[in-house]
Amino acid sequence: MTILITGGLGFIASHAAASLLESNQELVLLDNLCNSQESVHQKLEKLTDRKFPFYRGDVRDKKLLRKIFSDHSITAVMHFAGLKSVAESVKDPLLYFDNNVGGTITLLEVMQELGVYQFIFSSSATVYGVPEYLPYDESHPTKPINPYGQSKLQVEAILKDLAASDSRWAIACLRYFNPVGAHPSHLIGELPNDQPNNLMPFMMQVAAKQRPFLTVFGNDYETADGTGERDYIHVMDLAEGHEKALALIQKTPGMHIINLGTGKPHSVLELVRTFEKVTGESIPMQIGKRRDGDLPVYYASADKAKDVLQWQATRTLADMCLSSWQFQLQHLSS
Ligand code: NAD
Ligand code: UFG
Repeated sequence: MTILITGGLGFIASHAAASLLESNQELVLLDNLCNSQESVHQKLEKLTDRKFPFYRGDVRDKKLLRKIFSDHSITAVMHFAGLKSVAESVKDPLLYFDNNVGGTITLLEVMQELGVYQFIFSSSATVYGVPEYLPYDESHPTKPINPYGQSKLQVEAILKDLAASDSRWAIACLRYFNPVGAHPSHLIGELPNDQPNNLMPFMMQVAAKQRPFLTVFGNDYETADGTGERDYIHVMDLAEGHEKALALIQKTPGMHIINLGTGKPHSVLELVRTFEKVTGESIPMQIGKRRDGDLPVYYASADKAKDVLQWQATRTLADMCLSSWQFQLQHLSS
């Protein structure tokens, strides 16, 4: 039994791959390296002391997909490959629909052609849109407010129809909240190819003195300290959630939509203060304007994950900050 991991050298997929390799699963990774580096493959082999194949290529390349499926006896696919910048999706929606929706359709077509029906999809909390209530549970209405979120919701709709069309499909759509942190080896972590947009990777570059200060996007929200609140989740908790989702679809076909979050929101200032406390580094800050399209606060209901997957996040905000920084230090010294 071999699992194909698309986008396999990216941030979340590489941590899921590490967990799966450590659990003795057989893997094949595919990535076009548009937002990752090939060296992650060697790092994964080093930290797990396992060898496994990596293909450099695109999920929209049907010929390559057919070759991968014929070279390996793949029984399940974890589909992480995708573009994830909200701002870029607003500027170039076709790129996002082509890559995120088109790429998924191509992959599903090849799976159907070759009789592989187990599929795990990286969805996002962004499918919910403006909260009608909090925490978001999985039956909260889905009204994404940008093309990136729309691309995730469109894939979810396709997966729902597919699962209804043939009872052999076993699909988990995992709606991630805000993944941060790094593997305990500190060999892999979040390493965006371009300037980071997200809070944690940006803060790492400020702590490493590659940027002079962090701009806090607004301190006049109706939250406890006025700054935005999010449900940050350690990427290793998220990785373990994927192992549980795999176990679920191996025994229960159909379509499963599940939030992966902690259920607890934390503000920008809380994250900065926790980081400063656990690392001893200081983060110079400036208060800026609100960022267009930002929601003041959202977080997950983690109840369904607990019931259906027997999974819940265990790592703290301090763990997330410390492991992110230790990875950053290791990366800077390598
Ligand atoms: P990432 O950019 O680190 O990883 C995505 C990987 O996919 C990259 O290595 C990239 O090179 C690869 N890729 C992109 N398009 C590809 C294609 N057409 N063919 C082959 N490879 C391709 O991002 P991540 O944070 O690890 O996110 C993984 C998945 O989770 C994405 O689908 C993302 O939308 C989703 N997600 C991420 C977050 C988050 O905050 N990080 C939140 C919710 C959902
Ligand atoms: N923030 C700052 N300064 C920064 C960056 C972020 O103050 O330099 C604030 C934001 O305003 C927000 C919080 O930090 O309040 C978190 O922002 P991120 O950009 O890290 O995360 P978002 O929740 O805005 O978005 C992320 C992903 C999206 C995804 C969404 C839901 O970037 O792709 O989570 O999963 F859709």
